Amino acid sequence: MIKQQMLYEGKAKKVYATDNPSLLIVEYKDDATAFNGLKKGSIQGKGSINNRMTNRMMSMLASHGIPTHFVEELSERQTVVKKVSIVPLEVIVRNISAGSFAQRYGVEEGIVFDQPTLEFSYKNDALGDPLLNRYHALALHLATAEEIDTISQLALQINQLLKDFFASIHIDLVDFKLEFGRLADGSIVLADEISPDTCRLWDKSTHEKLDKDRFRRDLGGVEEAYQEIMHRLLGESK
Ligand code: TMP
Ligand code: ASP
Repeated sequence: MIKQQMLYEGKAKKVYATDNPSLLIVEYKDDATAFNGLKKGSIQGKGSINNRMTNRMMSMLASHGIPTHFVEELSERQTVVKKVSIVPLEVIVRNISAGSFAQRYGVEEGIVFDQPTLEFSYKNDALGDPLLNRYHALALHLATAEEIDTISQLALQINQLLKDFFASIHIDLVDFKLEFGRLADGSIVLADEISPDTCRLWDKSTHEKLDKDRFRRDLGGVEEAYQEIMHRLLGESK
C-alpha cells in the first residue's frame, strides 16, 4: 500500500490516494472545530483515539453484518478504507434528548425516548448542514428512495448494536451522527467515523459527558474524556 497525494483535507481528517484506485488512506488529526468551524481548537491525542475507536466500532458492526468502508488500520492515526462517494446526508440517531433536539423543541436534555429518532441533515457547510426530510432529499437528488430506505434501516440497526456495546462499558449512547457512501457497484456502506466527535456518550451512573460536548461547551477535561472512553474500550476488548 503506497500513500500518494492528499485528495482532501477536512476539519478532522485528511484523505490520501493510494496505488490502489479503489482504496484510500484516512489520517485523523487532533484539530477540533464546532459550530460549523466557528470555534477552533485542538484536542491532544484525539486523532489517535478517534482512529482506533472508529476501527473497533466498524469491526464490531461488520461482525454483525453491517457493511462498512473499513479495510485495515495502518498506524495510530492512519487507516485504509474503501473509496466511496459520500451520500451528502448526515444521519443522526437519538436515544435521549440533547443538543440541537433539546434546543429546537424546547425540552431539557436527558429525556429517554420510548424509541429512537432518526433525522437527516444536508451535508453542506456553506448552508450550515440544514435539517431535511426524505422528501427534501429526494427533491434535491441527494439519494434515491431505495438508498434512503437502506440507510434508515442500517442506521437503526447500528444504533441497537452500538447501544448494547456502550452499555457493556457503562455508557449511555445519547445520540450520534453517521455518514454512508456508495461503492463503485452502487452498494451502500457505512463510512466516516464513530468517535467521541460524532457521538454523545454519558457515563451511565454519573451522566458525566465523555464526548466532544466538553470542547463545544468549554466544560474542561476534554482530553481526559477521550482517554476515558479509549480506556473503557480497551478494557472491554481484553
Ligand atoms: P446535534 O444535537 O448538535 O444535532 O448533534 C447530534 C449528534 O451529531 C451529536 O452526537 C454530535 C453529532 N454531530 C456531528 O457528528 N457533527 C456535527 O457537525 C454536528 C452538529 C453534530
Ligand atoms: N465539527 C463540526 C463543525 O465544526 C461541528 C460539531 O461537531 O459540533 O462544524
